[in-house]
Amino acid sequence: MAATQPISDHWATGDVFARILAAMEAAEIDPAGVTVEQLAPIDHFHARGFPATRDLADALPVRRGDRLIDIGCGLGGPARYMAGRFGCHVDGIDITAPFVEAANRLTALVGMEGAVAVRLGDGQALPFGDGTFDGGYAQHVTMNVPDRGAFFREAFRVLKPGGFFALTEHGLGEGGPPHHPLPWSKDGSGAHLMRPGDTVAALEAAGFEVDEVTGTGAKYLEAYNAAIALDESGGLPPFGTHVLIGPQAPEIIRNAARNIAEGRTHPVQILCRRP
Ligand SMILES: C[S@@+](CC[C@H](N)C(=O)[O-])C[C@H]1O[C@@H](n2cnc3c(N)ncnc32)[C@H](O)[C@@H]1O
Repeated sequence: MAATQPISDHWATGDVFARILAAMEAAEIDPAGVTVEQLAPIDHFHARGFPATRDLADALPVRRGDRLIDIGCGLGGPARYMAGRFGCHVDGIDITAPFVEAANRLTALVGMEGAVAVRLGDGQALPFGDGTFDGGYAQHVTMNVPDRGAFFREAFRVLKPGGFFALTEHGLGEGGPPHHPLPWSKDGSGAHLMRPGDTVAALEAAGFEVDEVTGTGAKYLEAYNAAIALDESGGLPPFGTHVLIGPQAPEIIRNAARNIAEGRTHPVQILCRRP
């Protein structure tokens, strides 16, 4: 994990769970009775937040009782949603220890310890045996992954034959280098964006059959523009992912929107299968 420490430090240091509890207090949410739905504005830590997870879930062939892997699960919001919606079990892994700690404490708060388990781990070397999972997904993780081949081969290895794998990421567009800071990198360091065609080729080289590639830029742009409008009209709400991003959040949101509008990033959702 030493090689991934700069990425982990970029995402979070210190007590993330305490920061979430403070944000709950500011938003007058009682942690003792908090629900998965109430956590959604903060624990779906990716572009477009919860609506993007719901769209992804709509596209997945999950069956009740399945065991899924969420690679780069962050705070575990998507894992808890999938487990609750489909009646499946989700194992999450993430390289950022404060997120892993917060994820498990949030899971305990909503009483889902039997359905969701999160542990520290690198998607490029998964701590699971071959053919363990019925399906898996990685939502907005691979922008930080230098070895896409290893990441995809590991996802393939831990799936059962016939298992599905879904990926969402900000791909590289044709419009020039992205403006920074962005959620995954302050200045371009630790960023490993790939053109969507190259990502598809890397998935196929790992053995996957790619079923569907959907451009998600227009929806993301709409959501970023809504956040910008909110910021301009007096501020973002007390409970949201910007609390974890920190004081640069308004600039980061504007850059993320501008990159999509200028064709510098090209967000995609990719659905594939282990044959
Ligand atoms: C934008 S957040 C997305 C979190 C979560 N997937 C979600 O949608 O709420 C990116 C996450 O990827 C994790 N990450 C980055 N590189 C990783 C790697 N090589 N293996 C596992 N997790 C990684 C980061 O620690 C961070 O939690």
